[in-house]
Amino acid sequence: MKKNVLVIGSGGREHALVLKISQSNSVEKIFCLPGNPGTSKICTNLKIDSSNHQSIYEFCLAEKIDLVVIGPEQPLVDGLSDFLRERKINVFGPSKAAAQIEASKSFAKQIMMQANVQTAQYVEFNREQFKNAIDFLKNSKYPLVIKADGLAAGKGVTICENFEQATETLNNIFVENVFGSSGEKIVIEEFLVGDEASVFAITDGKDFITLPPAQDHKRVGDNDTGKNTGGMGAYAPTPLIDEKLISKIEQEIISPVINQLNQNGIPFIGCLYAGLMITNVGPKVIEFNCRFGDPETQVVLPLLEGDFLELLYSAAIGSLNKNAVRYNGGSSVCVVAASKGYPDLYKKGFEIMGLEISDPEILIYHAGTIEKDGKIFTNGGRVLGVTSVIKENDVLKAREKAYEALSKICFDGIYYRSDIANRVNKYLQKSNL
Ligand code: AMP
Ligand code: GLY
Repeated sequence: MKKNVLVIGSGGREHALVLKISQSNSVEKIFCLPGNPGTSKICTNLKIDSSNHQSIYEFCLAEKIDLVVIGPEQPLVDGLSDFLRERKINVFGPSKAAAQIEASKSFAKQIMMQANVQTAQYVEFNREQFKNAIDFLKNSKYPLVIKADGLAAGKGVTICENFEQATETLNNIFVENVFGSSGEKIVIEEFLVGDEASVFAITDGKDFITLPPAQDHKRVGDNDTGKNTGGMGAYAPTPLIDEKLISKIEQEIISPVINQLNQNGIPFIGCLYAGLMITNVGPKVIEFNCRFGDPETQVVLPLLEGDFLELLYSAAIGSLNKNAVRYNGGSSVCVVAASKGYPDLYKKGFEIMGLEISDPEILIYHAGTIEKDGKIFTNGGRVLGVTSVIKENDVLKAREKAYEALSKICFDGIYYRSDIANRVNKYLQKSNL
């Protein structure tokens, strides 16, 4: 039976989801709420208010939607999947309770402790324990990491080099209240040394499969300098994680966490994103997210052959088809074209030129764009994900292609990192030794 699908979200991740779903044999109609100028070319964008759960439900009934795929964390944390599931709509995306794995660092740590999963050592303090937290910081070794417990738009983590910086961070969270209720509690944790990777597990709450491992580039500047962002580029598969390591991650991290959540009566149905630090004593969890990562999704999905919609649908109905997709042997690199000033203030409204690239190995995902009178303008911090996808597993070749495509695209104030995927050189050298 062909399926009608509704994807919630408006970023590069959702463009990638819609594109991949559109290539499925089992798809009939696709809608995206609200979508962006990229998704509008391959599906129908909707203007429904995404916080109005009842309106979304009524749309699902009217259009006979077989599956809702929720992209961002906020609607999940707001309980959209619970609302729809209670009304018998199939949803790919965890319940509000299971989404706490991203929305509360303290909850995530508790699950990891129960499941005996490797992560940074930590302590927790709440607002009333301000003085105890200061005492703890006085006697700590540096660097250490302070995290606001709740969602903080990617700004809730501070790596503190010394006591002064740590007390200032504590003050910002507990006294200045910069994160509002997300800062009621903090987690102070050990600073982990190593290389980061993102692993996505697609799960029906019991079984799971992992997708090709990716590496994000979170800092705004070359060589991982400057502020943290939503992600300035990604590539997959990363040679940092070989087959042996992915099995270890599956057995020692993904499986125990999925089982633990299930045992606790809060099965996780959707994409469990493990943000990992590969340390010299093995992989450790930095964080979990309750959704696909962005920009990683833009490089991971094009590397799947098979029926991606079947994968998501089978997870949503609680009987995961583990053979629905498989890695196609290729590689992919995404470089984010951002607006100058991002992640701080930036200007919008500049026309984007050069989007008409007709190379089958190049995908231009839209994120912060807007269409007016047939022209595309910038409308956000991360504007485009310029992505190459090649048949060979040769990330360096894919990297060349992505940068070549990017050189043809321009808008006022275009900014991008010039070193996306460079770290592959280091991993390849190591594996040749
Ligand atoms: P998060 O918002 O939890 O993804 O953290 C943002 C970034 O902070 C991560 O991608 C890491 O680069 C860094 N980070 C977070 N926790 C740690 C840690 N315990 N040790 C080292 N770096 C960390
Ligand atoms: N790429 C990081 C994130 O999606 O949170």
